[in-house]
Amino acid sequence: MKSIKNLFENNRKWSEDITKKNPDFFPTLSKQQAPKYLWIGCSDSRVPANEVVGLLPGELFVHRNVANVVIHTDLNCLSVMQYAIEVLKVEHVIVCGHYGCGGVIAALNDNRYGLIDNWLRHVKDVRERHGHHISLLKDQKQKEDCLCELNAIEQAINVCQTTIVQDAWLRGQNLTVHACIYGLKDGLLKDLGMSISSLEEMNSNYLNALALEGIGVKDFTRLPNIVH
Ligand code: CO
Repeated sequence: MKSIKNLFENNRKWSEDITKKNPDFFPTLSKQQAPKYLWIGCSDSRVPANEVVGLLPGELFVHRNVANVVIHTDLNCLSVMQYAIEVLKVEHVIVCGHYGCGGVIAALNDNRYGLIDNWLRHVKDVRERHGHHISLLKDQKQKEDCLCELNAIEQAINVCQTTIVQDAWLRGQNLTVHACIYGLKDGLLKDLGMSISSLEEMNSNYLNALALEGIGVKDFTRLPNIVH
């Protein structure tokens, strides 16, 4: 039997280090969590959510899947969002993509990996929605980077189009949805210029973010849908 003993050793050291600095850390945290942020990011092992934004356990509620996809029938993602927004009352939802995302690159190039191809179909929808713009980019790397950014923007818009977020805004709840992207090469997070705090801001901020990508309103036909 192969063991993961080294991980248990790491864990014991990690727990001791934190307890040494703050003896009350775990006892306090075990009683409640009050994170201000929900992070929706990629499962990629190189994008550790808490570390990237310098937050401790208890400060960031996290949902990760391959290529940070937000689908309106994904009960897993929706349940995380509903609990985070309605029960924990997070103030920010951050959809974070990353450059060099294997899922996005597979969707861009129609690479076949098996079952996951069906999941990545949703990233191909983003590729197709902005196909004209992507086709104008000459360099393969530019196309990849562009689709990684557009995927984060579109998935953030999917967050905004859920009943969970729209109901929260209609209740007057303080909630902002952001689209960001993380650079594997430099460890830096980049704001994609789309932070949305209300139904009214949704379409204009979406168009602004696309304009930053060089995409004009004439280049595509779809505007986000307001469910109410
Ligand atoms: Co990825």
